[in-house]
Amino acid sequence: MRTDVAIIGAGPAGLLLAHLLAQDGIESIVVEARTKEYVAARIRAGILESASVDLLRSAGLGAGIEAEGDEHRGIYLQWPHERHHLDFVDLVGRSVWVYGQTQVQADLAAASDAAGRAVYYGASDAALHDLDSDRPYVTFTDSSGAAQRIDALAVAGCDGSFGPSRAAMPADRRESWERIYPFSWLGILADVAPSTDELIYAWHPDGFALHSMRSASVSRLYLQVPNGTDVNDWPDDQIWDALATRLGHGQNGWTLNSGPITEKSVLPMRSFVQSPMRYGRLFLAGDAAHTVPPTGAKGLNLAIADVALLAPALGALVHKNDAALAEAYSDTALRRVWRCEHFSWWMTSMLHTSGDPFDAQLQLSQLRWVTASAAGAAGLAENYAGLPIGF
Ligand code: FAD
Ligand code: DHB
Repeated sequence: MRTDVAIIGAGPAGLLLAHLLAQDGIESIVVEARTKEYVAARIRAGILESASVDLLRSAGLGAGIEAEGDEHRGIYLQWPHERHHLDFVDLVGRSVWVYGQTQVQADLAAASDAAGRAVYYGASDAALHDLDSDRPYVTFTDSSGAAQRIDALAVAGCDGSFGPSRAAMPADRRESWERIYPFSWLGILADVAPSTDELIYAWHPDGFALHSMRSASVSRLYLQVPNGTDVNDWPDDQIWDALATRLGHGQNGWTLNSGPITEKSVLPMRSFVQSPMRYGRLFLAGDAAHTVPPTGAKGLNLAIADVALLAPALGALVHKNDAALAEAYSDTALRRVWRCEHFSWWMTSMLHTSGDPFDAQLQLSQLRWVTASAAGAAGLAENYAGLPIGF
């Protein structure tokens, strides 16, 4: 097969890139290891920054957000006996939206189907070749077992943390940074109305807890747990008891509604960046180049921001053989990536308990400052609601 851009991975980065390229008259073929059903069912992120919503809307993908998204002015930050609201709209003039990654993924898959775009689901053995030439190609085995080859002008590595693209860059041409955290999140999805109008991020001596949501009848909640936790060691009642304690059930008349848990899983946490995000005609976007711990709600938004930069860069390359934006892509994207890496690390460090009493006092002091000082609150709000795409 021959196309303009071969895209590896049909997550949010890959499918959004295919969509934006098509709007610019550029052809692509997407190769995805998992089945379409598996990709559609993955429960992941839940918050869109205002710049992500603007981009999806301007790309004609805003109808679902309009119909089912929930605009939030801010978040609650709390610690035992104190809950404070940070109003991002008042602080920095921007809001965020609760709109699940499954919904974003469904919107993208629907747009891809409607346009009849080529997506090879269930592909194995994807491999990247001749990336330092102007005729790179990708080989894979399709779901029927047939060997395939895509010749392209560029390859987009949108294959997440475990795909082949990252490692396709020669080892002596890349650098990476990593931090593994000593805790994980146990996440649940429950058929119960949220007990809060906006998200609650809670510091507690037993560990962090987060109350998020997906709709008026579905709640999404997380608990800090030790690494290596087996989800089967946490019966549903114990999860609800821990959430009630950490989120402050009974304090100032607030109650946590519980209900049937429909999904539960443990998510390890790490920070990772690989640089540069480009090698020859290979461009990395989203989790293929970087990972953040989920506390800042940045993973999905970073994937969208990368693709918003990459699509015009590939457009100039394909249409005009102009490589200026392509050459600037990695540096431009990494500026925002490192800002989000710092914010995600900072939120994670402020809210997760380590058992060290000195650390706990520093965290509480930081939380008091962030909620009591307009300057502190504005800094958190500016980062959480998201900086402009080109920041
Ligand atoms: P992905 O969504 O990972 O997509 C990559 C795609 O490439 C996948 O479909 C994968 O199957 C495919 N692929 C991989 N290998 C190959 C191969 N060899 N060949 C072909 N295709 C391949 N972020 C938050 O902000 N908040 C959260 O609560 C949150 N929760 C998360 C929970 C989990 C379990 C995970 C894994 C991530 C979570 N994230 C969260 C992060 C967020 O979901 C990601 O940042 C986002 O999905 C990045 O999109 P992406 O398209 O770059 O990568
Ligand atoms: C959700 C996940 C996050 O990591 C976060 O910071 C906020 C919300 C969620 O899944 O809803």
